[in-house]
Amino acid sequence: MSKNILVTGGAGFIGSHVVRLLVNKYPKYHIINLDLLTYAGNLANLTDIEKKDNYTFIKADICDFEQMQELFKKYDIDTVIHLAAESHVDRSIKDPFTFAQTNVMGTLSLLQAAKHYWGDNYDEKLFYHVSTDEVYGSLGEEGYFLETTKYDPHSPYSASKASSDHFVRAFQDTYGMPTVISNCSNNYGPYQFPEKLIPLFINNIQNNKPLPVYGKGENVRDWLFVEDHARAIDIIFHEGKTGDTYNIGGFNEWKNIDLIKVMIKTVDRLLGREEGTSENLITYVTDRAGHDLRYAIDSTKLKDELGWEPSLQFEEGIEKTVKWYLENKDWMENITNGEYEKYYAEMYK
Ligand code: NAD
Ligand code: DAU
Repeated sequence: MSKNILVTGGAGFIGSHVVRLLVNKYPKYHIINLDLLTYAGNLANLTDIEKKDNYTFIKADICDFEQMQELFKKYDIDTVIHLAAESHVDRSIKDPFTFAQTNVMGTLSLLQAAKHYWGDNYDEKLFYHVSTDEVYGSLGEEGYFLETTKYDPHSPYSASKASSDHFVRAFQDTYGMPTVISNCSNNYGPYQFPEKLIPLFINNIQNNKPLPVYGKGENVRDWLFVEDHARAIDIIFHEGKTGDTYNIGGFNEWKNIDLIKVMIKTVDRLLGREEGTSENLITYVTDRAGHDLRYAIDSTKLKDELGWEPSLQFEEGIEKTVKWYLENKDWMENITNGEYEKYYAEMYK
């Protein structure tokens, strides 16, 4: 069956893996990648598939409702996989307006454009919204986030994502639009912008720069290899129940400081340095405001209902990831000059 799938945010970290998977796996689907190419969007993430016949790139802003309406019509869109967002918690603390604009108003603009174009004929239509586990708030030492966990966002980023999730459900309940939402834990892997913990620290270890650990490094995150997230999205998109929510996670919790030591060990070994050489780069800095203590996803529903499980063990995933960043210095250098330097100086002054 052929489909015209609008993937938003396809030039970003996770979006580029989703686009690559869909373009390669489904030659009959037309994948339309819509991305504004903000600081986080990078077409260099997609050079391997950019010339494929079933792929189109469009530079546009999801908040531009008129243009969204035109694009639905022009490409006869039947499916949306919505990833475009402002995604970095630290930036949301400095500039919450941009997060409300892109994540809330942008999502609403897309929902409304879909509703206008699809009218009341929702046959074979789907609006898939990609969300985060951060909407559930913060856990103590025990327990997991379930699909039924009450929303309790703390940062402007997670508040904006929670709000966008509510709008998606409101369109399902009010207008009968077929939607599905997934809430995923922390992703890692190739092509992640080096403002996030893993690529930032790999880059700093390689360049002998200080490693800014927030607070005591005791916060816990549940890490999933990005290609496993993309695979989960593919499965949920094809087989998920309309109107439902699926949690995606790796059952792979790490205290930040322990994860940082694994990264140090791996980078040092791959660079032929003596083991632990870079531990002296660890620098404890002022904690992130409102820093959530622990995230941990229970993805049993996704496993039981749709058969998805992470394919990679963490040791294998982190080795693959560190190697990728060490082997792709040009990719890193191209995005760590200019604006990034200013961001870094301001953020870690
Ligand atoms: P990212 O910041 O790497 O990429 C976001 C992309 O959206 C960029 O390409 C950017 O150019 C684009 N974009 C931003 N504003 C736009 C606009 N107004 N119009 C069009 N495009 C715009 O983000 P990511 O880490 O790949 O996350 C993708 C999605 O997955 C987000 O919705 C995020 O909330 C969610 N998510 C991320 C993680 C994670 O660990 N990174 C985990 C769970 C869920
Ligand atoms: O849980 C899913 C979320 O994971 C996604 O929705 C977000 O888009 C994504 O950015 C990520 O959010 P986090 O805030 O958990 O990721 P980040 O990489 O920014 O930070 C991971 C942990 O590392 C967190 O506890 C803060 C800490 N940290 C981060 C940075 C950038 C540091 O100690 N030092 C740092 O310099």
